[in-house]
Amino acid sequence: MPLPVNLAVFISGGGSNLQSLIDAAKAGRLSAKIVLVVSSRADAFGLERARREGIDSVVYRAKDYPNPEEAEAELLKILEQYKVDFIALAGYMKMIPATVIKRFIDKITNIHPALLPKYGGKGMYGHFVHEAVLASRDKESGATVHLVDEIFDHGKILMQERVPVIPGDTPESLAERVLKVEHEIYPLALEQLIRGEFGNG
Ligand code: GAR
Repeated sequence: MPLPVNLAVFISGGGSNLQSLIDAAKAGRLSAKIVLVVSSRADAFGLERARREGIDSVVYRAKDYPNPEEAEAELLKILEQYKVDFIALAGYMKMIPATVIKRFIDKITNIHPALLPKYGGKGMYGHFVHEAVLASRDKESGATVHLVDEIFDHGKILMQERVPVIPGDTPESLAERVLKVEHEIYPLALEQLIRGEFGNG
């Protein structure tokens, strides 16, 4: 696939991972042009980040459509319009429909704020993950970049990095330490995937 590839980034919130991908692309560390930001929420701060960078964005909510089939068809249409090659989920809190996963096999990535397969699955997102890690008294946590398949937090793991859990940690302090690592490994893993270095493509 010719570089740079066209990348869509899906968000639901602050979009700090979106920012790290924008920064990496600008610095030439990520061979991607971010052509579109898709947000599941109209009030996501990540939309403001997109606006500042002159990146097109759409608010996409499946529930705005009469049925799931029409919702999925619309999402596929938008992705086709923007000639999207890869999709990076960055704090996106909704399921990706099966038709989209089939159309983009091995081309959708997610970042998860823990060491999968631990602390993954339905309901395990954002602060819930960090609360669960602290409740179990684990000595370490971390971040995972993985491919997206039809099962939540299940696809092939591309990259992981550990961080220590420090006595006195709160979900917020742990989240902050993990987020730093997320910002480092997401562009790295995505770049390797785009270049076919995981045996893909
Ligand atoms: C990140 O910590 C990301 O790993 C997590 O949400 C946060 C989004 O932050 N994602 C999940 O929990 C997905 N299961 P951001 O909006 O600042 O990138």
